[in-house]
Amino acid sequence: MRKIVLIGYMGSGKSTIGLELANKMNLSFYDLDQLIEENVGLPIKSIFDTKGELFFRKKENELLREFISNQNDFVLALGGGTPCYYDNYKIYQKETITSFYLKGSIKELASRLNLEKENRPLLANKTNEELEEFIAKHLFDRSFYYHQVNHVVIVDNKTIDDLVDEIAAKLA
Ligand code: S3P
Repeated sequence: MRKIVLIGYMGSGKSTIGLELANKMNLSFYDLDQLIEENVGLPIKSIFDTKGELFFRKKENELLREFISNQNDFVLALGGGTPCYYDNYKIYQKETITSFYLKGSIKELASRLNLEKENRPLLANKTNEELEEFIAKHLFDRSFYYHQVNHVVIVDNKTIDDLVDEIAAKLA
């Protein structure tokens, strides 16, 4: 039985790395944002816009709990904020689960997110300078929760393949 959880800020590569890692390890890949979209029947941005963030955070908590108690072999990528709400970080702190924090620097995350901020409700409409400031503040607020994992993996200046190998080595 293999249970792997990937956490990290938006743009840290959780979904891309998670999918590659799952392929390498012959596991199924799941993305919590996608499970929420399927459950609610709307894209994340529309959920925030029409139902509000509180509704989203409740769903996120509910579906994370349900997933962890029902699934056995998986790589699961969480949303960037998942560890920081309710008791979410405790849900995946279990002996049977190995968790990784994909940690990016403010500069690295800002440059990645600048290219893909429109689908992310928390980042839409921000200028470059606002984006860096917003990420810095968020990382400060979220740091405690992000570090409640088994392994911290720095993502700056590494390829997807490097990162997948680095994570797989820690699981060996
Ligand atoms: C969020 C991150 C997003 C998504 C939602 C909120 C956050 O996930 O869950 O927009 O609070 O950081 P990604 O990290 O997959 O973009």
